[in-house]
Amino acid sequence: MDLRIKTFEEYEHAYNASIADPEAFWSSIAEKFVWYKKWDTVLDWNFEEPRVKWFEGGKLNITENMLDRYLVDQPDKIAFHWEPNDPEGTNQSITYKELYHEVCKTANALRSLGVKKGDRVCLYMPMRLEAIISIIACARIGAVHSIVFAGFSSAALSDRINDAQAKVVLTSDGLNRGTKQVDLKSMVDEALESCDTVESVIVLNCIDSSPNMVEGRDYDFNELIQDMDNECEPEPMDSEDLLFILYTSGSTGKPKGVVHTCGGYMLFTAYSFQNVFQYQDDDVFWCTADIGWITGHSYIVYGPLLSGATSIVFEGVPTYPDAGRFWQVCEKYKVNQFYTAPTAIRALMGFGLDYVNKYDLSALKVIGSVGEPINEEAWRWYYDHIGKSKCPVVDTWWQTETGGIMLSGLGNLSPMKATYAGYPLPGIQPVLLNGEGEEIKENNEEGYLCMKFPWPSILRTSYGDHERCKNTYFSNYEGYYFTGDGAKRDENGMYRIIGRVDDVINVSGHRFGTAEIEDAINTNEFAIESAVVGFPHDVKGQGIYAYVVVDNDLKNGTEEIIASLSESVIDGIGRIARPDKIQIVSGLPKTRSGKIMRRILRKIAEGERTNFGDTSTLLDPSVVEQIIQNAL
Ligand code: WT7
Repeated sequence: MDLRIKTFEEYEHAYNASIADPEAFWSSIAEKFVWYKKWDTVLDWNFEEPRVKWFEGGKLNITENMLDRYLVDQPDKIAFHWEPNDPEGTNQSITYKELYHEVCKTANALRSLGVKKGDRVCLYMPMRLEAIISIIACARIGAVHSIVFAGFSSAALSDRINDAQAKVVLTSDGLNRGTKQVDLKSMVDEALESCDTVESVIVLNCIDSSPNMVEGRDYDFNELIQDMDNECEPEPMDSEDLLFILYTSGSTGKPKGVVHTCGGYMLFTAYSFQNVFQYQDDDVFWCTADIGWITGHSYIVYGPLLSGATSIVFEGVPTYPDAGRFWQVCEKYKVNQFYTAPTAIRALMGFGLDYVNKYDLSALKVIGSVGEPINEEAWRWYYDHIGKSKCPVVDTWWQTETGGIMLSGLGNLSPMKATYAGYPLPGIQPVLLNGEGEEIKENNEEGYLCMKFPWPSILRTSYGDHERCKNTYFSNYEGYYFTGDGAKRDENGMYRIIGRVDDVINVSGHRFGTAEIEDAINTNEFAIESAVVGFPHDVKGQGIYAYVVVDNDLKNGTEEIIASLSESVIDGIGRIARPDKIQIVSGLPKTRSGKIMRRILRKIAEGERTNFGDTSTLLDPSVVEQIIQNAL
């Protein structure tokens, strides 16, 4: 299924057509997919409610478009090469036909446990083929998957299971990540102590441990599926039926479940995959993300399979056994398109070029970046040393909520500018708004990045809380989707993302709300009050700086308290959210009305010591002096 634009002129033409008549534009793309019944209406929308429906009345099953349709023309084409954590381990390859049968067996296994269309299934799994098979199996039977990154804590897992009211959990005994082994099953057991909705747990053996199995609840993955039929009728879904939920952090409260639906998400992930990466038939694509994040959903699972592509699933980490691992894998599979995060590039840069130059990277055609702004130095290194100054860098800006890539160059078609994400994809209508909510028409002015028209894979709601969806994304500027990012546009119309303008921090491309981290800290017995801010970090992009007021009466050493506070974040969210710096303070800078002045805390975290602007509303200015004296 070829959805590819092949020249920049064609892009301009497609873009203009997509704005002039979005319905005609997306219909002509939708027609290239397999539908059981054609849609009644192309688009029905209203950003005030918000309500967005694409291709309503159309019946389809997304997996039919990922697997069945390829059984005729390319059954023996490799869908995935799986590369284990340990380079000495045995790799696996799976063809479209084999994948189809494995998905059917797993889908039948889920049905045998009573999973029906609309039921939620939670996945807490390592980067194994079985995880991908399980995701597609859910979609096959119309179950709504909710993947939880296997680095989140058991508390974070149980929150997500409960919010989604999941019926089944798929997990593994454990996982390998570099030199570490993580025991996943006991985390699941702990999480399930506070979850009532889970009836069954399916456990994949990954590390040959003998996990505790609860009689009548827990099943061994392989035993369960081995006798299942390898054909499974796909569940007919409406275009607007739920495909999945994925939890992501916002500036307030607990993480919320971003909801994506079948038809629109299918169109946009396939379309953006083929165009941004300029994927061609025999190419090998590699996205290094984990399936627990949206990047893994859209560009490991859905976009590539919908396009009939071959891609890599990698279990390991960039620095194990050494900093050449990514490039060794690129050489081994002759990777043509490589897609990773700036944090990985910055980390690998530090190890020097010997790790790069050992390997043959000549198959690379396009190299991509995602997750956070890429700084000029990292961009240069990536372009010069990985792409050998011949591969375009596609700096792809998007979000969990957008489902697919929104701003980016298209392979080698588009002009490139370091640190600029570039142009909107066809169908995407970005605007920059000023504080008054007016569109900024001038070039090179910073504004709030918003979207003024729906695209097929925009989030539909926040699971179980439509009001929250409205308040978070559609209320800041009436009639617009608000991204939470600041950006500017140059004289050629290219966009540069500045970063978040809300209380969301982006640590190594992972998103956390400051409130969420504060809540975790505040569960600690020593903590009275806390404030968390981000600060610039050389490798992670942003680091986490926590200011904590503790109970003076507890007779413990500072070091002990700090370790304990850190542990509370690890327990509440996961190791990935552990603060880089924790400063014990006697008080937080507050206004007379009791509001914490985060602006000041952010400046201190950035290293500012004197210039804080207007502080006249501070209740007690001496608090700031004290914080500065002990700043880390
Ligand atoms: C936030 C979304 C979508 C993939 C992974 C992150 C930041 C994402 C870029 C980029 C600058 C970027 C934004 C955005 N972001 N890509 N190319 N340049 N910033 O998804 O966890 O939903 O986070 O990541 O701030 O709002 P996410």
